[in-house]
Amino acid sequence: MRLVLLGAPGAGKGTQADILKEKFGIPHISTGDIFRSNIKNNTELGKKAKEYIEKGLLVPDEITVNIVKNRLEEEDCKRGFILDGFPRTIPQAEFLDKILAELNMNLDYVLNIHVPDEELVKRLSGRRVCQKCGKSYHVIYNPPSLENICDDCGSNLIQRDDDKEETVLNRLKTYHQQTEPLIEYYKNQGKLVTAIGQEKIEDTTKEVLKALGVN
Ligand code: AP5
Ligand code: MG
Ligand code: ZN
Repeated sequence: MRLVLLGAPGAGKGTQADILKEKFGIPHISTGDIFRSNIKNNTELGKKAKEYIEKGLLVPDEITVNIVKNRLEEEDCKRGFILDGFPRTIPQAEFLDKILAELNMNLDYVLNIHVPDEELVKRLSGRRVCQKCGKSYHVIYNPPSLENICDDCGSNLIQRDDDKEETVLNRLKTYHQQTEPLIEYYKNQGKLVTAIGQEKIEDTTKEVLKALGVN
């Protein structure tokens, strides 16, 4: 399966990708996670990316596309992959078409997870992430078994810097201006499928699998 996950900030891309990667046994590639790990390790890339991410803006295309190109060329992507949060602009989508053609690959589906803006704000403000492995939780919708402790690795949960309310509103604005046009782009390629995000994570997974034609 070669899959792109589209959707606004907080739509549940990362949450569903974690479930799908287990089901299909393929890597989950999140450009947001790659930037966050570079920020944590204070690399040159991290320093550049941080300036944009903390304002709710997109990291420039020329920085982002090369990261994805290198990642898709790795061995484990031969069996398939889930791209989460890339592409996010029309030029990124055109670049992806080009590199996949060079690698002799085709996307199977572009899955858009649709959630209304009011719901997105609630989700992002309650999100907590594991500081070690990055797994996402929600204080109400998806709490860990022990308060503030990751179920998978036992590390502490923290709030993402860009989940502050002001930054969240900017991220939503950026999404509507720069990323939403990709829905039309992939509709025109005949690749778009849609899942309406539900109130429960497992119900959203059912919608996602139905959209992908998988049981
Ligand atoms: P990125 O990390 O990709 O953030 P995002 O797109 O803003 O999306 P999120 O990770 O916030 O949300 P999600 O859809 O993964 O939701 P989640 O599953 O966590 O990017 C961060 C930044 O990096 C960008 O702003 C940009 O600056 C930069 N960047 C990244 N890629 C880039 C690119 N290609 N080009 C340029 N810049 C780029 O769920 C959210 C919460 O809701 C969680 O708490 C979860 O537990 C809860 N939840 C999930 N599903 C449900 C449900 N069904 N019901 C109830 N709660 C739910
Ligand atoms: Mg995410
Ligand atoms: Zn963890």
